[in-house]
Amino acid sequence: MRTASNRAAHDSKRLPVCLRHLRIAATTAYFVRGSVCAFARSQSVLDPAGPQSMHVFRLWSWFLAILTAIFVIVLALTAWALTRRHRGIEQEPLERVHIPSRETERKLLWTVGSGIAATVLILFGLLIASVTTGKAISELGNKQNGMVVEVIGNQWWWYVRYVNDDASQIVVTANEIHIPVGRPVRIRGTSNDVIHSFWVPELNGKRDLIPSRITDEWIQADRPGRYRGQCAEFCGMQHAHMSLWVIADPPDEFEKWKARQLQPAVDPSDLHLQAGRDVFLKYACVYCHSITGTTANGQVAPDLTHFASRTTLAAGTLPNTKGNLAGWIVDPQTIKPGNHMATLNLKPEELQPLVDYLESLQ
Ligand code: CUA
Repeated sequence: MRTASNRAAHDSKRLPVCLRHLRIAATTAYFVRGSVCAFARSQSVLDPAGPQSMHVFRLWSWFLAILTAIFVIVLALTAWALTRRHRGIEQEPLERVHIPSRETERKLLWTVGSGIAATVLILFGLLIASVTTGKAISELGNKQNGMVVEVIGNQWWWYVRYVNDDASQIVVTANEIHIPVGRPVRIRGTSNDVIHSFWVPELNGKRDLIPSRITDEWIQADRPGRYRGQCAEFCGMQHAHMSLWVIADPPDEFEKWKARQLQPAVDPSDLHLQAGRDVFLKYACVYCHSITGTTANGQVAPDLTHFASRTTLAAGTLPNTKGNLAGWIVDPQTIKPGNHMATLNLKPEELQPLVDYLESLQ
């Protein structure tokens, strides 16, 4: 029996050379298109998911349309000017001093004057469109009384706290922000060290996080999904490895997530996991990280109470898997050079229980 791949190989041998080249080109184009789409899906201004980002997208589209039209007109005029001489106008000898007539001078003045006027008008138009968009986005926030999430930039991770007047309802997490679909969320940002910038393109524009200052930005997702964000202000060596995810859940799922996050870490009943917990509490981990329900109460690194419920490690550097976590614990400086995670001198037999314990913290 001929398999599909045999058949394909046979068919490709029969194709003429040009068709084979065409097929290679088509396949390449398909893969390029696939990767561009995958990138666009993971983080793109062109795929707005909420009212704020829709304003940004509309502004972007207007800019693109107007600037493309100007580009085409300028190219067309340049081509016209370059070919003009050859269309019947006689070449004048170089040595003859050319004095333009009154009429030509007037024409020249009119052309240059109207070019300057058009440029000023277009720039003003774009400025007005940009200011109007900014105003529309900020007015969208003024009318709302949504959820407040505090985001603090750190080299190189995001502290996330769900503000609530009732202290027992405050959720603390890192690098991942869950929000309910259709509800406006106010991101109240600041920084602990240098200037960072909070940017989730599918939800809104960039907003700087500045030390000792509070900045505000509203986001809203009108459809469930995972939206990638990225620090958009150069903040040191690992700026590129400072990403985050905003996860928009249907409201009931969001409430379930929140209820689980409010619980302290489950104390393991399994001996192996208990050994892992003891390793964690024995080493310097506790000075930086906290796990609610244990004596670990450090405040300078991500809270690990529900570590296993998060999808990435080290602010989006790696997927959160046991293998990656083991590598991260053993040698964090190779994975993300310059980060503030201490390298521990763990005994070989301590690593597996520690990894299993952390990955049990759902
Ligand atoms: Cu933080 Cu760039």
